[in-house]
Amino acid sequence: MATQPVSEPAPAFADLHAAIARYYTETVQTHGATPHGVDWRCVPTQELRFVQLLKLCDFSAPFSLNDLGCGYGALLAYLARRHGATPVDYLGVDLSAAMISAARRHWGGKRNPGRHAEFAVGHASARSADYSVASGIFNIKLDPSAARWRRFVAATLEQLHASSRHGFAVNFMAPLPRGVTGSAGLYRTPAGVWRRWCEQHLGATVEVVKGYGMREYTLLVRRN
Ligand SMILES: C[S@@+](CC[C@H](N)C(=O)[O-])C[C@H]1O[C@@H](n2cnc3c(N)ncnc32)[C@H](O)[C@@H]1O
Repeated sequence: MATQPVSEPAPAFADLHAAIARYYTETVQTHGATPHGVDWRCVPTQELRFVQLLKLCDFSAPFSLNDLGCGYGALLAYLARRHGATPVDYLGVDLSAAMISAARRHWGGKRNPGRHAEFAVGHASARSADYSVASGIFNIKLDPSAARWRRFVAATLEQLHASSRHGFAVNFMAPLPRGVTGSAGLYRTPAGVWRRWCEQHLGATVEVVKGYGMREYTLLVRRN
């Protein structure tokens, strides 16, 4: 990327938010509260992403967590199973109202020991939390302009940073090898682009997690 993206306030992206919400409303209406319902292949790879994102968090003490682009709240099941001893105050936020309805239905009747969980429709969390995570929110690029998509990503990262006391974690799809063509609708970008941006623009310390068996990487963005 030759120039640093400059973020725009959220209303500038209302059309993009609406397009993303429409896309995922259709997936959840077709496949329900399942990995396919959030456009993932299967539970193991969905959870492999959670493993990387949660490397940000200190599980030795209770904490609050915002999950931006929470889908149907699959992260809650993983937290209960793998980190059940640590109380987590969880807020899941998603652009798709249908997705949030599915999350509330999915979790409404379930016992979730040690956890307070809420869900909200939106493009940003209304509260600050110790940490934020966002899994898969930038994969489907619904704007044909690369420059505008970068401004959208920048604005979303700024929001994640502003609402996270200790830091946030987010994943991206990595570029395909030379000569391999993939779907034009997917956003793939080298790790250095947003690592540098977070360091320079947010003044954060960034760890890049890769090599976990997927053509993806995770940025752990810690506040200094
Ligand atoms: C690939 S799905 C992953 C869902 C969940 N994170 C998981 O791993 O099971 C991406 C979700 O993020 C939501 N989303 C995408 N961009 C968003 C944004 N800017 N703000 C809030 N939600 C967003 C979509 O509606 C969709 O439900």
